Amino acid sequence: MKFFTSSLVCIICIWMVKQHVTCNDVNILLTPDPQESVNVSTSSYFVDLARNFTQMMTSLQSSIEYVTKRVQTLEARAASDRHEIDRLQSVIVNITAGRKEVAFSARLSVTKEHMTDGTTVVFDQMISNYGDAYNPRTGIFTCTRTGLYLFSVSLEGHYTDGQGDIPAAITMDGTHLGYLVSDPIKSGQDVQGAVTMVTQVREGQRVWVEVYYRNDVSVFRTFSTFTGVLLS
Ligand SMILES: *[C@@H]1O[C@H](CO)[C@@H](O)[C@H](O)[C@H]1NC(C)=O
Ligand SMILES: *[C@@H]1O[C@H](CO)[C@@H](O)[C@H](O)[C@H]1NC(C)=O
Ligand SMILES: *[C@@H]1O[C@H](CO)[C@@H](O)[C@H](O)[C@H]1NC(C)=O
Repeated sequence: MKFFTSSLVCIICIWMVKQHVTCNDVNILLTPDPQESVNVSTSSYFVDLARNFTQMMTSLQSSIEYVTKRVQTLEARAASDRHEIDRLQSVIVNITAGRKEVAFSARLSVTKEHMTDGTTVVFDQMISNYGDAYNPRTGIFTCTRTGLYLFSVSLEGHYTDGQGDIPAAITMDGTHLGYLVSDPIKSGQDVQGAVTMVTQVREGQRVWVEVYYRNDVSVFRTFSTFTGVLLS
């Protein structure tokens, strides 16, 4: 194309010299063929468009990667926020419960057999133990704060081998405060005996539940519980 144009210019120059053609006329002659110019600009338009498209795709891809990372970060943060909220709720529950300071509930997780007069019933499974005053290994509540307390006990007796009754007492430092009896009288029968007491307890005094009067007593699991709470 260039060779063709140069040759054409040479021929035209010779022709111009011969014909005395003006510079203005040459300009008109050298203007590119409109058909050709459209083709050239059309192809460069598409090259431009393709480049723009590639750029757009690249930037779109990095945007997607950014958004994906951001979503992952936010998801992780939401999970850790959820965890933090749960923790704070537990702190609030503990603070609210902590105002009362002393409250516990425990139950028997396994049936206790062959208990004799004076044996402590050890409620081993803690339901709650605010103030940590009840010991699930010994079954003994040791008062950490002088005040008015409510104690409640229920014991389940199950009739087998000709007997099933359980006489028991809420006991403070060896003194029986309140009695209960569970007295099933027929084979396979279950009876739940219960007692609730309100009493003043001084710091250091100990309260527990013990079997009395009878020997070889069995206390049935799950349905037997011991609760204590500081009222004021
Ligand atoms: C310019 O493009 C047209 C069709 O778009 C084609 O017919 C013509 O031959 C092209 N001209 C050149 C010089 O490539
Ligand atoms: C390509 O992008 C440039 C800059 O954004 C713009 O000026 C041009 O018109 C675009 N070309 C096409 C063919 O879209
Ligand atoms: C709240 O109290 C319970 C039981 O005493 C304990 O297990 C838990 O760790 C306490 N929570 C906080 C956040 O202190």
